[in-house]
Amino acid sequence: MTLLKATSLAHAFDYPLFEDISLTLAAGESMAIVGVSGSGKSTLMHILSSMLRPNRGTVELFGEDIYRLSDAELVKLRRNDLGLIYQSHYLFKGFSAYENLEVAAILADQKIDPVLLERLGIERVIGQKVTELSGGQQQRVSIARVLSKKPRLIFADEPTGNLDHATAGEVMEIFEEYLREQHAAMVLVTHDESLASRCTHLYRMQNGLLNAI
Ligand SMILES: Nc1ncnc2c1ncn2[C@@H]1O[C@H](COP(=O)(O)OP(=O)(O)OP(=O)(O)O)[C@@H](O)[C@H]1O
Ligand SMILES: [Mg+2]
Repeated sequence: MTLLKATSLAHAFDYPLFEDISLTLAAGESMAIVGVSGSGKSTLMHILSSMLRPNRGTVELFGEDIYRLSDAELVKLRRNDLGLIYQSHYLFKGFSAYENLEVAAILADQKIDPVLLERLGIERVIGQKVTELSGGQQQRVSIARVLSKKPRLIFADEPTGNLDHATAGEVMEIFEEYLREQHAAMVLVTHDESLASRCTHLYRMQNGLLNAI
């Protein structure tokens, strides 16, 4: 089943970033996007994940043309079906890590899985304020928050950028298991080619093109 289908995407800010990008992603699959800094990976991710309307082209998620949905429909889609892990983590700073997970889980009507917290190695710091956590711990809390929602599509922009190699590998394993068990799919932007090569599809963003490698 196709969860994501993008057709002829084009976008420019000060200069054209890409002209004609098409891709599809099926349930259970993952797609890695690599490329030099500034090549447009995060911009593409924002477009695919409903956060930025492209200059041209369409994005279908679960068969729906998302940029034709109403604001209310978009909010519902993001809340229930999309898991967004961005380069800067959007955690509520005044709350504890656990409260951050609770907010997401309650909104999506899901339960927090204690085994997930243990596997991410954050079970002992989960009661602390977000501001008291290290960058890597905050990153793992964001991952736990997103997976607790049980999204059908995950968009992860350098989710392991602050983690050591072993922890990054463990996080990747958690993602892989999640996709298998939930029949979900993931778009992963990463500078780590060893993680990228574990994905079903591997693309490089280069000169405005997304080339399979
Ligand atoms: N909101 C915006 N307004 C204007 N220009 C932007 C905006 N967002 C991104 N850009 C520009 O688009 C280009 C691509 O940015 P983008 O964040 O997509 O790159 P990236 O491939 O994710 O890079 P990195 O690996 O450093 O995260 C950059 O030159 C950036 O300055
Ligand atoms: Mg980026």
